[in-house]
This record gives sequence, structure tokens and C-alpha cells, in this order.
Amino acid sequence: MPNVIWQPQRKQGAFMRRPEYECLYGGAAGGGKSDALLAEALRQVPVPHYRAIILRKTYPQLSELIDRSRAIYQPAFPQARYNQTEHFWQFPSGAKIYFGSMQHTKDRINYQGKRYDFIAFDELTHFTWDEYSYMFSRNRPSGPGTRVYIRATTNPGGIGHGWVKSRFILPSPPLTPIWEDYQVVGADGKAIQLRRNRVFVPATVFDNQRLLDNDPMYLANLAMMPEAERNALLYGSWDSFDGQVFTEWRNDPAHYQDQRFTHVIDPFQVPAHWRIFRGFDFGYAKPFSVGWFAVDENGKIYHIKEYYGCNGTPNKGVMMEPTQIASEIRRIEQEDPMLKGRKIVGIADPSIFDESRGESVARMMERSPNFVYWMGADNTRIPGKMQYHYRLAFDKDGDCMFQVFHTCKHFVRTIPDLVYDEKHVEDINTEQEDHIYDMCRYVFMEHPIAPRKNVLVKPLPDDPLDLCERSGNALFFRV
Ligand SMILES: Nc1ncnc2c1ncn2[C@@H]1O[C@H](COP(=O)(O)OP(=O)(O)OP(=O)(O)O)[C@@H](O)[C@H]1O
Ligand SMILES: [Mg+2]
Repeated sequence: MPNVIWQPQRKQGAFMRRPEYECLYGGAAGGGKSDALLAEALRQVPVPHYRAIILRKTYPQLSELIDRSRAIYQPAFPQARYNQTEHFWQFPSGAKIYFGSMQHTKDRINYQGKRYDFIAFDELTHFTWDEYSYMFSRNRPSGPGTRVYIRATTNPGGIGHGWVKSRFILPSPPLTPIWEDYQVVGADGKAIQLRRNRVFVPATVFDNQRLLDNDPMYLANLAMMPEAERNALLYGSWDSFDGQVFTEWRNDPAHYQDQRFTHVIDPFQVPAHWRIFRGFDFGYAKPFSVGWFAVDENGKIYHIKEYYGCNGTPNKGVMMEPTQIASEIRRIEQEDPMLKGRKIVGIADPSIFDESRGESVARMMERSPNFVYWMGADNTRIPGKMQYHYRLAFDKDGDCMFQVFHTCKHFVRTIPDLVYDEKHVEDINTEQEDHIYDMCRYVFMEHPIAPRKNVLVKPLPDDPLDLCERSGNALFFRV
């Protein structure tokens, strides 16, 4: 009888067999994620030049992983040695597995010039897209004959929740590869077409029988958590999670028509006497956000159209000059039937009036031939966030004071994923894709309403896959 030190459980095996370049595993607590990553890293250690790295956000978080690696690696390779000061395992062949952290985005430079055949992220939603994507450049072979690839595990929630969900969860059902095409201009000036794939393999604690055998009451620990955390950590829900700011958010296609208990609705013809506002948050390297809003007789606001300057990569702007943005706004307002011929009042982040470094963004936009005018918004953050809560609150009939046309897909994508800041605990974390949030906040602050309380309704899933089942009308967003 061979002495088996570690053997993948069924779901871990499914994860370890995936051929895709990137694979995300887990999406709930206790599914055997960290164990699977540690085992995956071992696969190529017979190759002398093999180099692997397992990353966690902070170094203290790594210690548990390192302890577990001692329990698996040492008996499997009695001659392997762990270097405590430089945090790597050296195997008899010469292969090395490193443990690393990236507490701040600038820590990326610690990995400059390094190369790893295998890169693993434990708890991926703790990382930003910039941190994750930087490591693509570090993923290259250290010699012939190795497989070069990336693996990650995660629970829902955290600063990276939005981009991880958009990258791995939304574009296709679990276990279905997501393909992406890239074009590169070669040294000879000719275009080179490239393809990469990635996949999500879901696992929950129910896929970790070893844990349930060792500690049957762990299930009870998960069940005892507050609802949002329980849904995320026990059932792997990507819709509600600890730290989510707008827990009252509901996107229910079954009610797009009757507009009850849903914030997202079908577009309708805006009555001619309703006032129209245009909100703006400027960005160049980061996305800019322009949105049009209609206000009815009761002061209820409808977000009817959006123009979002994102280049397709999470939180990356299209680098357009203010005059170009103004020209596009002018074109939209002349052509869109909802806006054509209407009086439109512009409300923007007050920083666009700053003239301390030359001509202000506002002045560039109002110049001929575009004549796009703005007034400065009230930029106070917490009152602005409270206006969101007051407007999103449902009354007992399922009515609220703010709704958005489903055509505003970036609003619908980014608002439910916003999380709280760890330091400024009442405010949202501003490292996220919060430009649409800010733009809309300015418009809300121009029309403040009195506090309204949400009647308690069970949050509905926001995954397009679920929406698809309920409506036959999936909304997929590709990154
Ligand atoms: N294949 C396996 N063989 C034996 N034990 C296992 C195996 N996989 C997981 N376990 C046990 O289950 C425990 C939990 O697994 P692991 O830490 O990998 O889960 P996780 O999904 O990373 O949890 P968390 O969500 O808390 O990070 C491990 O410490 C280990 O004891
Ligand atoms: Mg883990």
C-alpha cells in the first residue's frame, strides 16, 4: 500500500485537470482551495529550473499557507528545504516554490525582472486588476519543457470582487472556457493574432469531505454568519457579500416592465415636461463617466442613458481629451431621440473647474463648437452616499426614488459590486471602478431627498446566469 500524503478530492481534481491558461477555483469558504493551489505548485518540481510563486495579499496572511505547505511538501520531499528568510522551498532537483505578497500595488516592482513558470494567487478578490495583470508579464518559462500558466482561488467579496466576477463568473457558465482574442503588431509591422483562455471551477465546503469529516460543525460556523456573508461563503453567491455597500440593490428582469421591487427597468419614452440632467465625472487614464437623467413630477430620478469612457480593461480610461468628450456629448444630444431638442443641465465634479494647471476641463468643454456647459456639484461624500440609500429604498409597494434603464449596462455592472473602505468605514473604497457612482452622486446631491427607509426584501441574485434562467434575457459583459 503506497503511503499517500495528499490526494485531490473530486473537485480539486477537476480544477487540477483544467487545460486553460488561467483558472479560478472556489468561490466559497472551505472548498479545499488553498490545498489545491499548494498541490498544483508541486507538479513540476522534478524540473531543475522550474520556478513557482504563490501570492497572498499580505505577508501575515501567508503564514497559514506556509504552515500547510510544511505538512504537505516535507513528507512528500523529505530532502526539500524551506528557506525562512527568503520564503521559498528548494527541492532536490533545484526547483523552487516561492511565497510572496503584494500589499500595495507599488509592491509589483518587487517582482520586476523575475520569471515564474507557475503563478498562483490565493484569495484573488483581495488583489486589484493592476496587481493581477502585472504578473502576466512575469509568467514565462525559466527553461525548456515547463508548462507556463496561472491559477487562482477566491471567496466572493473584497476590493477585487467586481473585476474577478466580470472576468471569470459573468462571461460564461462555470467549467466553460472563456476565450479572448488579442492582436499584436510584430517587428515586421504585420498583425499577429493571439488567443488565450480562462475558466472558473466552482467549489464549496460541500466539495471538501475531508474538512467535513474532521470538523462537521464547520458547516454550522458558516451557517451562523450574517446573511450576506453566509450566502457568499457557504453557497458561493457572487451577488451579496460582506462589505457590499448597496445591499438593497435589486435587478429583477421579471419586473423590468411593471417596475416593482427592481432598480433596473425597461426603457420608456420620457415625457416632454420632465427635466433632463447630465452628470459628469472626468477621467483620462481612468474612465470618465457621462450620464443622462430624467426627473419626474415627484422628484424621482431615472438614469436613461450612459456614455462611459472605459477601454474594455477594468478601470482603464480611453484617454480622451475634454474637447473630444464634449464633441461626443454634443453629437449624442443632437441625435438621441430622448435628448434631442431638450434643455439639458450639466452637473459635474467641481474639480473640472480647477484652473491652477492651465485651462480647466470645464472651459475646454464649453468652447466653440461644442458648448457643453457644467455647474459644479456638491461633492460631499457621505451625504452623497446616503442619497443613494434614500433613493434606492423600496416602499411597501416596491416603488423607489431612483431607477435605471437596463441599457445603462456599466451602471448596472459597477454599482452592486462597490465595497466599503477599511479605513473610512462609512464610505466606499475609492480604489474601485467608482466613476459612475461619483457621477450619479453629483446628480443626486443636486436633488437631495429626505431619508426613506427600505422595506426589507430578500435580495435577488444579480448573476446574469441566474437572470438568464428567470427571463431568457442574459446580460453578459466581457472584459
Ligand atoms: N485533498 C485533501 N486531502 C486532505 N485534506 C484536505 C484536502 N483538501 C483540503 N483538505 C483539508 O481541508 C482543510 C481546508 O482546506 P483549504 O484550506 O484548502 O480550504 P480553503 O477553501 O482554502 O478554505 P478558506 O476558504 O478558509 O481559505 C485543509 O486545511 C485540509 O485539512
Ligand atoms: Mg484558503
